[in-house]
Amino acid sequence: MKIAIFDTHKFEKSYFEAANSRPRPHSSTPHQITWLDARLNSQSARLAAGHDAVGSFVNDRVDADTCAQLAALGVRLIALRCAGTNHVDLKAAAEHKLQVVRVPEYSPHAVAEHAVALLLTLNRKIHRAHNRVREMNFSLDGLVGFDLYRKTVGVIGVGRIGQVFAKIMSGFGTEVLLHDPQASPDFAQQIGARITSLDEILKLSDVISLHCPLNDQTRHLLDTSRFSKMKPGALIINTGRGALIETRALIQALKSGRLGGAALDVYEEEAGVFFEDLSETGVNDDQLARLLTFPNVLITSHQAFLTHEALTAIAQTTLQSLDEFVGGRKLSSPAL
Ligand code: NAI
Repeated sequence: MKIAIFDTHKFEKSYFEAANSRPRPHSSTPHQITWLDARLNSQSARLAAGHDAVGSFVNDRVDADTCAQLAALGVRLIALRCAGTNHVDLKAAAEHKLQVVRVPEYSPHAVAEHAVALLLTLNRKIHRAHNRVREMNFSLDGLVGFDLYRKTVGVIGVGRIGQVFAKIMSGFGTEVLLHDPQASPDFAQQIGARITSLDEILKLSDVISLHCPLNDQTRHLLDTSRFSKMKPGALIINTGRGALIETRALIQALKSGRLGGAALDVYEEEAGVFFEDLSETGVNDDQLARLLTFPNVLITSHQAFLTHEALTAIAQTTLQSLDEFVGGRKLSSPAL
């Protein structure tokens, strides 16, 4: 099968090449991969000409126009190299008879462990300490954090990633609160956590970590009103999707001092910024620039998934979906 992989990154290529050159359960024939730098959107879709499938990543914009163009070019499959589907108009894809596959689970541990790394770094100010020590400044002023032990940690979205995060947090001896319309009482009991409302999480939590998908119900889940209900000094960790947080409201909450800090692996307007080297040009986004001025804001560039295990699984699952599609088999990872 010929696949055009959009928004290619150096870090993933070797994993795809390795998975493509090895015999797989349903095929030993390598697929023909075209690596493209462009993000997939209505301007770049024409680059898929001559391919049966496209590979898409988190900051593509696969809207109705893009789907129409892909279908007209003869593309039949959109393979998402990620779990989230918020960047794809799934209804339009179905209307144009485009199959969409995703990688539903590549490593919940990769993302959950990164969320923990962000929390520990933000709380204990490791990022600032590291910079200081490298400047031969060994003072400790301004680096005071708090014990996580016996603090309250709210987990919003308790699916694959949220569950791993909640388990790790219970290991720290924290009181874990869970909020999810599908929350499992068995899981809560197993780790000694409590299922509760969003309002109670906001009111009681010293730390809140977001692990729900982005959709119409969760867009700007944390807005001005919700920030005002939060416990003063609370820390926010977001490895879910940027638009779960209203950036303007976040900046206000940080400026007013109500929020203790924020650690973000995702950002509302990250497309075109995250994954890019802008060190020569700087950023045009004034809100991102403002966020970067706060000492209590820590940002990573959508790297929570970036482990050897997750990249291996993304490549293998994507190629397995292609094999299943070529072989006319039932798709094991449909997004629709
Ligand atoms: P999942 O589908 O296993 O779990 C999501 C959970 O969120 C479900 O249990 C669902 O019931 C719950 N949920 C839905 N609406 C909710 C709401 N309004 N309030 C509270 N909970 C709600 O998904 P998984 O694998 O745990 O991933 C979660 C999200 O993490 C993905 O949707 C994706 O956006 C993000 N992600 C980020 C990565 C990164 O590198 N930063 C990598 C992978 C995923």
